Amino acid sequence: HTRRRTPAAIAAMKGTRPIVSLTAYTTPIARLLDPHCDLLLVGDSLGMVLYGMETTVGVTMEMMIGHGQAVMRGTKHACIIVDLPFGSYQESKEQAFRSAARILKETGCDGVKLEGGEEMAETVSFLTSRGIPVFGHVGLMPQQVNMTGGYRSLGRSDEEADKIRRDARAISEAGAFAMVIEGTIEPLAREITAAIAIPTIGIGASAACDGQILVSDDMLGLFNDFKPRFVKHFAELAPLVSKAAEAYAEEVRARTFPATEHTFQPKK
Ligand code: KIV
Ligand code: NA
Repeated sequence: HTRRRTPAAIAAMKGTRPIVSLTAYTTPIARLLDPHCDLLLVGDSLGMVLYGMETTVGVTMEMMIGHGQAVMRGTKHACIIVDLPFGSYQESKEQAFRSAARILKETGCDGVKLEGGEEMAETVSFLTSRGIPVFGHVGLMPQQVNMTGGYRSLGRSDEEADKIRRDARAISEAGAFAMVIEGTIEPLAREITAAIAIPTIGIGASAACDGQILVSDDMLGLFNDFKPRFVKHFAELAPLVSKAAEAYAEEVRARTFPATEHTFQPKK
């Protein structure tokens, strides 16, 4: 039995080899991804991907804890990080600690992720100095959608680039073990990756980052509501599911399923 990768082990991978990460929300999928990944994120993207919400803003602590437990049950290799949902950490560093501690205690995961830059640095420092590993998230921050009005790539203007630079530095200096950089132009992602001490995990932030993350349902071609430029389909599962449902429906209607081999009979 090999020990799970720790947040410290993830941090130590910077400069050695690319860090492989994906999202996971359920036991069976987590079990399949675990052997191939350094880190699995129980992302609040589950609100959109699993629950059909339009944004991640409505995701609750209960949802994150339930799915965190499910992913922990299916994994033994990857470092498991659970997203703090919107509203569970922004109010104060004390609120953030309470929410993060609850997630750690109730799921047994290895750490939490929170979105934010300079404004969250004090919180990140409060958590990490009290025993809670923190995964940062800068650049495009989906929980800010009600302020930003949508999803677009960032860092083209000097003002925007400066802000993301300062955010990344602040979160790194506050003690995060790694950070997601989302939706950020390549030269800026490259510059930040070179400038900070902890690994950058990119999503829509180029191959210059120290590692990559994608939403599993996106890269599996299962969640196809929209396909941003940065998503690559490594499989096309949606048509397979449709075809299986269609074949099942036909056989039930034709009474060819269940067949003899699927049917219980009295003992002879
Ligand atoms: O919620 C999520 O899935 C994420 C990753 C895509 C970084 O935050
Ligand atoms: Na997230």
